[in-house]
Amino acid sequence: MATYKLLLLAGDGIGPEVMGEVKRLIGWLDAQGIARFETEEGLVGGASYDADKVSITDATMAKALAADAVLFGAVGGPKWDPVPYEVRPEAGLLRLRKDLALYANLRPAICYPALAESSSLKPEVVEGLDIMIVRELTGGVYFGEPKTITDLGNGQKRAVDTQVYDTYEIERIARVAFDLARKRRNKLTSMEKRNVMKSGVLWHEVVTQVHQREYKDVALEHQLADSGGMQLVRWPKQFDVIVTDNLFGDMLSDIAAMLTGSLGMLPSASLGDIDPTTKKRRALYEPVHGSAPDIAGQGAANPIAMLASFGMALRYSFDMGELADKLDAAIAAVLAKGLRTADLKSEGLTVVSTSQMGEAVVKELQALHA
Ligand code: NAD
Ligand code: IPM
Ligand code: MN
Repeated sequence: MATYKLLLLAGDGIGPEVMGEVKRLIGWLDAQGIARFETEEGLVGGASYDADKVSITDATMAKALAADAVLFGAVGGPKWDPVPYEVRPEAGLLRLRKDLALYANLRPAICYPALAESSSLKPEVVEGLDIMIVRELTGGVYFGEPKTITDLGNGQKRAVDTQVYDTYEIERIARVAFDLARKRRNKLTSMEKRNVMKSGVLWHEVVTQVHQREYKDVALEHQLADSGGMQLVRWPKQFDVIVTDNLFGDMLSDIAAMLTGSLGMLPSASLGDIDPTTKKRRALYEPVHGSAPDIAGQGAANPIAMLASFGMALRYSFDMGELADKLDAAIAAVLAKGLRTADLKSEGLTVVSTSQMGEAVVKELQALHA
C-alpha cells in the first residue's frame, strides 16, 4: 500500500480541535489497513508567531513543498491583533497559497438532506443543493501591488490595494471550472463586476474566449457579482459551478456556507498544476471557516468542514474517490441520526461536542466499511 506524506498545520483557535478529529480518522484508516499516511505536524499562524516571530517559517514552508498534501486548520484571533501586519497569522496562509502556486480553490456547498431545516433560508430553497464555487486564489486584490498605507502629512492617510489579473490567470482558473462543470451538470456561471472594474472587463472577455475555443458544450452564463450574491440566497439551485476572483470568491463562499446550515460544514481544496516531472499536484486542504475565537477551547466546534476537507484530499490528491464517497456518506448518516454540534439548528436533537461528532463519523465509516 502506498504511503502518502501529509503535513498537518492545525494553526490557532479551533484549528487544533478540528484537526484532532482528522488525526483520529487517519489513525483509524491506518489501524484498519485501509490507507496509510506518514504525518508530520508544523506551526502556522499565531502559533508560529508565538514560537518564531513569523507566521510560517522557511523550514515549515520547505516541508509543505515536500509533502504530498498539506492539511490546514485555521489561523488568526484577537490575541495577534497587535502584531505587525507582515507577520499577522493570516500571512502564513497567504504565503502557503502563493508559494505552492495553489491558484484553484474549490469550495463545494452541499446541503445534506438532514440539514435542510438548519439553514437560515426556507428548506425548499436549499434542500438538494450541490454547487461548487471555484475561487481564484493566488491573484487579484489579495496579492496585487502596490499595497500600501501612506501618510499624506495633512492628518490624512491613504490606503491602496490593487486588483490585478493577467490573461493566463483567468484562463487557467476558467479551465478548472469548465472541466468541473463537464463532470457535473454542465453549467458554469462566471461572476465579476465588469460594470465598474477593468479586471472585470478582462475576466468576462477571457472566460468568454475560453468557452468559445474549448468548452462550447458547457452552458456559460455571466452574472455581476453583487447580483450573483443576491441570486445565491434567492434561488441557489440555479447554479452548478461558479467561477470568480479571489475576493468575490471569499465572500460568496461564506454566503454559500449558510445555505448548507453552517460555516462549519464547508470544506475546500486549494490546487496547483500537475508537475510534469513528478506527476504530482501541489495541494492544500482546509475548511472555509476561520479560527472561531468566540468558541475556541470549548470543544464545541463542528469538525465536519475539516473532515470533509480531508475527504477532498482523498479524492483530489490520493485517487481514493470511493473512500471519499464513504466518508461523505458517513457524515450524512451521522446527521440523519440527529447528532448536531452547537452551530447547527438542533431543536429536539442531540447536541454533541467536537470529539463526539468526530467519533460518530468514524464509527459510521466503520459500519459502511464492514
Ligand atoms: P470564523 O469563520 O472564524 O467565525 C465566524 C463565525 O462562525 C463564528 O461565530 C464562529 O464561532 C462560527 N464558526 C466558524 N467555524 C465554525 C465551526 N467549525 N464550528 C462552529 N462554529 C463555527 O470567522 P471570523 O470570526 O470572521 O474570523 C476569526 C479569525 O479567523 C480571524 O482572525 C480571521 O482572519 C481568521 N480566518 C481564518 C481563516 C483560515 O484560517 N482559513 C478563514 C477565515 C477567517
Ligand atoms: C478564507 C479566509 C482567508 C481569505 C484569510 C484568513 C486570509 O477568509 O480562506 O476564506 O481571505 O482567503
Ligand atoms: Mn474567508
